[in-house]
Amino acid sequence: MTISVIGLGFVGLTTALGFAHYGKKVFGIDVNKERTAMIQNGVIPFYEPYLKEVLGKTLNKTFFLTDDIEKAVGESDCIFYCVGTPYGEHGQADLRYLFAAIDSTLRAICDKKFRVLVVKSTVPPSTTSEKVVPYIKEKYAGLISQIGVANNPEFLREGHCWEDFIHADRIVLGCEDEASAQVLRELYSDFQSPVFVVSRNTAEFIKYLSNTLLATMISFSNEMSLAADQIGQIDISGAFRILHMDKRWNHSQMASYVYPGCGYGGSCMPKDTNAFYAQTKEKGFEPQILKNVIALNERMPYYIAQKIIRRAAKHEKIGILGLSFKPFTDDVRGTPAAKVIDELIKADYRNIYAYDPFAMKTFQECYAYNVTYQNSLEELYETADIIVITTAWPEFKKVSQLGQKPIVDCRYML
Ligand SMILES: NC(=O)c1ccc[n+]([C@@H]2O[C@H](COP(=O)([O-])OP(=O)(O)OC[C@H]3O[C@@H](n4cnc5c(N)ncnc54)[C@H](O)[C@@H]3O)[C@@H](O)[C@H]2O)c1
Repeated sequence: MTISVIGLGFVGLTTALGFAHYGKKVFGIDVNKERTAMIQNGVIPFYEPYLKEVLGKTLNKTFFLTDDIEKAVGESDCIFYCVGTPYGEHGQADLRYLFAAIDSTLRAICDKKFRVLVVKSTVPPSTTSEKVVPYIKEKYAGLISQIGVANNPEFLREGHCWEDFIHADRIVLGCEDEASAQVLRELYSDFQSPVFVVSRNTAEFIKYLSNTLLATMISFSNEMSLAADQIGQIDISGAFRILHMDKRWNHSQMASYVYPGCGYGGSCMPKDTNAFYAQTKEKGFEPQILKNVIALNERMPYYIAQKIIRRAAKHEKIGILGLSFKPFTDDVRGTPAAKVIDELIKADYRNIYAYDPFAMKTFQECYAYNVTYQNSLEELYETADIIVITTAWPEFKKVSQLGQKPIVDCRYML
């Protein structure tokens, strides 16, 4: 079986390499030429364990980078769309990259072969059926009888992309026709994970069920920590750790989401919660819990900045520890650290220093804040008057052993 993967970011590159690893012929296509040149040279454009090794084994054997969409699509049985679906103007998912990718591939079809188009990008429930299919019907009416349109939401976590893709907890296939379901079942036949074929809306909903639940647990924990702070004399991290000892958690990793921090960030959870909220509201139902989950999350950087402001004078040097949105990634999209820095600058705090073991380069490329970057945890500690932990990198645990400087531990990790 041959597939094309359109968009080679965290999801697309992992998908392409995953299928190539199982011997499928995979064409990888991305409009970002810098990105494809790096991949062609064996370099993964972002920090993600194991992908480099798999790329080394599959490149030009089963995985082929190409600009030649006609050839790739011509040979392919399935086309996977893994492009970004960022925030739209009113919080809804912006589908412009998805439609552009669909256009570029459907224009390239010039035979009568049956193909499955698979939306792997995260899109709100009903998008494939109510937006993608009508778009194709209107623009490519002549092709609709020879293509299946399915979706296959992705649940991987950055920092664990390979392991989460290859050993997926579940594979969800949103299909409305048996021919598409059969092609996708066969494609995933090497995987040991349970496969569920459901309606397209259900598949999309399962992805949002997952992300909105995680967001809710995080906002709940943050709200509880703010309440505890206000009451005072409460060991917040200790209280949460004792909560996790309840047998009903069964030592589940999910418990890690029921823990306070700086608010959820990254490229997915903030936009997905907003997109789901916007979508349901548009459909005539306003989800109140989700509305408040989002509102609290948006307010978290302000609360954190207030915590810092209560302890530091304007002339003092604030040392920010951690710039990535979570540990073990260099992804800084939607990172709470940037929002906290923003709040501090708005409050006229100008002496801001920062250190992150992995994400300093990506942070500087992404944000233009007037921040002085430091080369190590120790250097930052030496320079700053007050330390603020914004990402739970394990190496930051040793900061409390470096001296007696005040520390605002926003991740409750010390
Ligand atoms: N990152 C995650 O942890 C994660 C997890 C699950 C689902 N998702 C979802 O998967 C989708 C992709 O996320 P990502 O993090 O991999 O995004 P990304 O931004 O890392 O990568 C997207 C890639 O698509 C490329 N692209 C855009 N338009 C294109 C086009 N017309 N043709 C070819 N390439 C094009 C971009 O250049 C980029 O390299 C999003 O919808 C996201 O919500 C992401």
